[in-house]
Amino acid sequence: MLKEFYRQAHVAFLSRHIDLAMDGRTPTFELWFIGHKKLSAAYWTVGALFLLSAEERIPREALIEWVLQCQHESGGFGGDVRQDPHLLFTLSAVQILAMLDALHRVDRDHIARYVASLQRKDGSFCGDAWGEVDTRFSYAAALCLSILRGASEGSVAGGCAAPLATLPYVDVPAMVDFVMRCENFDGGFGLVPGAESHAGQIFCCVGTLALCGALHRLRDGGDALGLWLAARQMHSGGFNGRPDKLHDVCYSWWVFSALAMIGRTHWVDAAALEQFILSCQDELLLGAHPANGISDSAPGGIADRPGDQPDAFHTFFGITGLALMGKHGIGPIDPAYALPMSVVQRLRESNVQNKESD
Ligand code: FPP
Ligand code: ZN
Repeated sequence: MLKEFYRQAHVAFLSRHIDLAMDGRTPTFELWFIGHKKLSAAYWTVGALFLLSAEERIPREALIEWVLQCQHESGGFGGDVRQDPHLLFTLSAVQILAMLDALHRVDRDHIARYVASLQRKDGSFCGDAWGEVDTRFSYAAALCLSILRGASEGSVAGGCAAPLATLPYVDVPAMVDFVMRCENFDGGFGLVPGAESHAGQIFCCVGTLALCGALHRLRDGGDALGLWLAARQMHSGGFNGRPDKLHDVCYSWWVFSALAMIGRTHWVDAAALEQFILSCQDELLLGAHPANGISDSAPGGIADRPGDQPDAFHTFFGITGLALMGKHGIGPIDPAYALPMSVVQRLRESNVQNKESD
């Protein structure tokens, strides 16, 4: 039997979550998983509410104030107030401010200089002052700087031999070269050069190439990568992140968005993926129906796989998966920016206005 999408219950779940994320008191069970990652949890929650057209449930001003308090004097943001800055939380802060149309409330140049300070000579990026290198950080830097500069046109699928994008203060050719050194014989990408292909890192590498205008550098024009990604779909319809791993809702985003960026979503069964995502909605709701009176106190949320405990991370990535497929009136979403298309469009318009006033 085809499953339904419990929008109202998910909006209620996400609303409860955002209030808790900004609350400084002892974390509840739902927050136990996110601990110091509150700023990223806020991005997942705000992003999901936007995609569900429920912006009115976001406490805009309080959220902006809290995000600003997470900024460090270096320009970077920590995962919560009084936490050390990190590139991943800086990206979440910039994404939240972009969605709330509040980028004018921060010194963009200061943030861009913090991001650029984390680039190494070989083009790679560290996550923070402690020096760990990971292709997640290349993507975080590329996306942060693209948002701060204003979104560029034509970043995804196609763009053959287009000139590289310019991003403030960083060496873009070196950034692209480092990502390409992480490409494997199977067409996938890993965490660092020589590391095994992993769908999460593939999303980050393909996203970086898309944002930098370098998708034409992919091996076999993207065919090998497309085959590797398509092989992630399991009998359940869901994707795993690597061979021999379990299916997991968050890979609906990591895999399907990478396929979208290389123009190969038709290589997988989208209807089966949709049904898998719907089957990961909170168990307590199965059998329930809006007609039976799902209220705001209904649990809601999406788990990693059927029957598991829902959380904000998997709720967001389940919803973004549906948004990529244009299902249930959700979205649209930009696969490289991981932001609602309307937000990316607004950034583009502000970019054009800035250029005209230069
Ligand atoms: C899987 O993680 C996912 C990744 C490694 C990619 C994470 C990417 C970012 C944090 C960059 C920002 C992303 C967005 C959308 C703005 P996992 O630890 O669940 O992997 P596992 O399944 O192997 O445990
Ligand atoms: Zn997951």
